[in-house]
Amino acid sequence: MAQLVDSAISTHHKTNAVLTLGNILHNLRAIKQPEEINLIEKAVVMSTEGHNAVIRSIKPGMTEYQAQAIMEYYFKKNGSEYPGYPSINGSAENSCVLHYETNQRLMKDGDLLLSDCAAEYHGYSADVTRTIPVNGKFSPEQKLIYELVLEAQDSAFVQCKTGNNSREPHNAALRVITRGLLKLGIIKTEAEARTYFPHGTSHGLGLDVHDPNPGILQAGAVFTVEPGIYIAPGSKCEQKWWNIGVRIEDDILITADGGYRNLSAGSPRTVAEIEKMTKQKNIFK
Ligand code: GLY
Ligand code: MN
Ligand code: MN
Repeated sequence: MAQLVDSAISTHHKTNAVLTLGNILHNLRAIKQPEEINLIEKAVVMSTEGHNAVIRSIKPGMTEYQAQAIMEYYFKKNGSEYPGYPSINGSAENSCVLHYETNQRLMKDGDLLLSDCAAEYHGYSADVTRTIPVNGKFSPEQKLIYELVLEAQDSAFVQCKTGNNSREPHNAALRVITRGLLKLGIIKTEAEARTYFPHGTSHGLGLDVHDPNPGILQAGAVFTVEPGIYIAPGSKCEQKWWNIGVRIEDDILITADGGYRNLSAGSPRTVAEIEKMTKQKNIFK
């Protein structure tokens, strides 16, 4: 801890910049202590348990707020004081709305549900998104988009290593999504990719769901990897792609060996694993 403060002070001495308490706190918050990692891991496990319960319970006729209720039941049951941020449960066209919090729609056969929900525990938040088919099976178009986002996330994970800038995972994800959208004929030029992937891939995670960005990655950095593709109704592409909004969001810790650990790996990410889990029973089904 003292080392981190010293490093903040010496960096500012070298640049003659004004040193504020905010500068020191930024560095302290960007790299987590073992006690903080322990609390974040607890919040993440509560969150993945909630996501898995929703995957097991989802069916046509359920409302977005019922999915939210199942999710948040598991947060509370496990000791979370609050959700880390307002729960996002957007189905069909609502899956394409980035900060959708209304959660009122009745979900139907053939819809996708994008669920971005996570627990807070003793002040530390997780941040997890899963996107699932309401009827338990992705349609061919939903599967193509889902697997493109999954490939983007996997390519971003490869960049999660000591010494890389925390923008590298985003650059990798954007490359994959741009190539994929061109191949599917959804876009005609590379520049159009940002229409369907309009946000960054990573942000720091900890005391706040949007904690300071870690900058150059080092052991103890905790951040999200969350690529997405959102094709709202009326988009300038074939209608068969409309209403497909997919984000996959996991919480990553840079480890002492220079690599990473996916803290939210307890909830499935692949099409086969998700479809299999929708067939399992739980207390809400
Ligand atoms: N849940 C907010 C975010 O993903 O950044
Ligand atoms: Mn996030
Ligand atoms: Mn999120």
